[in-house]
Formats: sequence, structure tokens, C-alpha cells
Amino acid sequence: MSEIKKIRGFQDIHGENAKKYRYVVDTARDVFEKYNFQEIILPYVEDISLFKRSVGEATDIVQKEMYVFEDKGGRTVALRPEGTASTVRAFIEDRMYAKGGYHKLFYEGAMFRYERPQAGRYRQFHQIGAEIFGVDSPLGDAELIKMVKDILDKLGIQVRLEINSLGDFESRKKYIKALKEYLKQHEEELCETCKTRMDTNPLRVLDCKVETCKQATQDAPVLTDFLSEKSLERYTKLKEYLKAMDIEFIENPRLVRGLDYYTDTVFEFITDEIGAQGTVAAGGRYDNLVEQLGGPKTPALGFAAGIERLMLLLKELPEEKPLIVVIPVVSDFNLEGLKIADNLRKKGIRTEMLLKEGSLKSKMKLANKLNSKYVIFVSEKPELKDMQTGEQEVFENVEDLLDVVVEKV
Ligand code: HAM
Repeated sequence: MSEIKKIRGFQDIHGENAKKYRYVVDTARDVFEKYNFQEIILPYVEDISLFKRSVGEATDIVQKEMYVFEDKGGRTVALRPEGTASTVRAFIEDRMYAKGGYHKLFYEGAMFRYERPQAGRYRQFHQIGAEIFGVDSPLGDAELIKMVKDILDKLGIQVRLEINSLGDFESRKKYIKALKEYLKQHEEELCETCKTRMDTNPLRVLDCKVETCKQATQDAPVLTDFLSEKSLERYTKLKEYLKAMDIEFIENPRLVRGLDYYTDTVFEFITDEIGAQGTVAAGGRYDNLVEQLGGPKTPALGFAAGIERLMLLLKELPEEKPLIVVIPVVSDFNLEGLKIADNLRKKGIRTEMLLKEGSLKSKMKLANKLNSKYVIFVSEKPELKDMQTGEQEVFENVEDLLDVVVEKV
């Protein structure tokens, strides 16, 4: 029979990688909880219009990367390409705003984008992310960035932070007009994609990776020169807060992000260590999105980080708890072995009851492979073997042995 292979761009995560995945998620959760964020568990499938109206009709994500299909009820649905749109939908649909105050939510899970797979880029990938609703103050922007930095620091990952301000819609409109005029004059130098983008999504031309486009836009007007007084004030305040918290950053006026909903603050944490897909975490403000999706006007902001990219940068995992392997010397002691294993687990000790029967030699071989710290041989008089030193100790009864084990691990 022929083997069935996984689909291109999808992955199985197991062994050391699964440990890394879990460590990244647990670390992030820990930080989210410290900042008093509440978890939201979102659906994987949404009405396609949610992403069209939020991420944006003209974006690469909506135009060519979504997994779209018709369900049996004739609805056109999409596998979520990101988590912000769904969080906003839930915020509105469940009338969270009615409680007043502000809201801080976090999520974790799979996202789907039909992109060309390469190192650090998959078609099913996983994000941790957080969103804040109802906070207008730049304190929110500063605290969000600090929280992402805390997660990265806890994981021992060093990356650079780039920030920019896209301004409010009004200032952006003015900027886009000026940018379009500039691009029109340099049309000949742009790549084919950017020639179309120039009209549909001119901001994206600024972060095109093609060399001629980079050169053509070198003297393009700069967004921060078009900011309204309020946007400029927010941006200045944010920089002040970041400096006060000793968070280093680089101002990048070309940082525009690939999703349409952003206003004012945008940021990315970037590394050069993992090739072209170096953005590990990114986000910003989206003060118009809640209203755009039918809710009341609510300032909002958030970020998401790619778990797989964080895993690639993770240098080491914390040491695992020591393992004890329980080996019944002959099958007459199987039941006794089960009881000892049960007892050890109840005491919080990681225990492997050896499940393969056979010669003692074959069982020892397996225990070795498992990298166990101690082995307990179960027979009339139980024995404890230290796998590192080879030392062996015989006990009169199981209770005495268990007391010693608990002390040692
Ligand atoms: P994004 O920049 O599209 O933003 O994605 C955030 C992060 O997800 C990226 O920086 C990257 O680490 C990871 N990522 C994206 N695509 C892939 C892929 N194909 N393979 C592996 N990792 C990937 C958002 O998704 C926004 N929702 C972030 C946000 C939240 N903004 C405000 N709130």
C-alpha cells in the first residue's frame, strides 16, 4: 500500500519540536496572565466577509492566500488567516463593550494562509496573540510592546524592535495621495506587482523586497511628515515611554504591515537569524476596525507572534523532570510494579512503567534508551539503581525505597 503524505505547507510537530511549541505557548500564557489578559478561544472557520472587511480586499492575504470553501449549507467560509478579525467580531457579537471599562484578551492556535512554503513560513502556522479594546492612551501601546518584549526575553530570544506611525485615516489619505503622485513619476522603475499595487495598495510598495523598487522609493515622501497633531503626539509619547522602560527601538518609516486595519502605531520584532521570514511578532493599533465591523467606535490594539518562528530561535529548553523506570524483574511482579508506578506518579514523579515484557536484559536496554535517572527493579526485595553512577541499593520493603526516591528526585 502506498503511504499517504502530509499536504505541502503543513507540518507534524513532535518530539523536541513539540516540547519547544509547548514551552513557547506556556511562557506566553504565563506573561499574558501576569498582565491580566483573559483567554478567548475562537473558531477556525468564519464567514469570508469578516476578513474582506477587516484585513482588506486589496491585501495579499484576502486576494490570494485564504483557504475559502463553500460549506454544505452553501455559505462561503474561510479558514482564519489571523486572529484579530475574529476577536473583534466576538467583541461586538457578545456585546463585551456593554460592560464598560476596557478589555484585554489573548488567544493561541492555528492560522491558515496559502503562501509559498519556506523556512519559517507554512500554510498552517500557529500564533499567540493579544488584543486590547477600549484603550486610547499611548500607555496601551507602550504596555503592549513591553508585554511582547517580556515574552521574548523570557524565551531568551533577542530581536530588534521597529516602530512606525501610520497616522489616522485622514493623515494617511493625504499621505497616500502624495505617495501615489511620487510613484506615478517612478512607475517605470517598479516591479510588475508594484505597478498594480501602486493603485490598489500603494503603501505596500514601500516594503517591496525587489531591489529596483527599493531604490525607486528611496526619496518617496515619508509618512511621519504627514501625521496629524494627535497622531504625532501619540507617537512621541510612545517613544518616550519605551525609552523610559529601556526598550530599544528603531524608527522605520517604511514599516507599513500587510493588513489594512492599522492606524497610528505599528511595530515588528525582527531577527536576521532565520532568513527572509524574520518577523517573529508584529502588531499595532486599529482604532477604526470595531466600528468598521458594525460595533461602536472603540480604540483597539494588539499583536501576534508566530510560534514556529519563535521555536526556530529558541536556544534551549528548560531541563526536564527526572524519569524513573519501574521494571518488574519477572512477570509475577507486574502487579506490584503497577502499584509502585501509581504511587510515584501520585507523588508527582515522572514515571515510566516498563510495558514490554521479556528478558531483564531487554528491559534494561529500553530503560537506557529512555534516559532514566533511576530504575526500580521490582522483586521480593525491591532495588534502586542510579543510572548515572551504576550504584544499586536493595531495600527491605517498597515504602523504604519510595521514601529514598522522593528525597533523591
Ligand atoms: P501578521 O504580521 O500577519 O499579523 O502575523 C503575525 C506573525 O505571525 C508574523 O510576524 C509571523 O511571525 C507569523 N506568521 C504570519 N504568517 C506566517 C506563516 N505563513 N508561517 C509562519 N508564521 C507566520 C497578524 O496576524 C495580526 N493579526 C497581528 C495583530 C494582532 N495586529 C493587531 N493585533
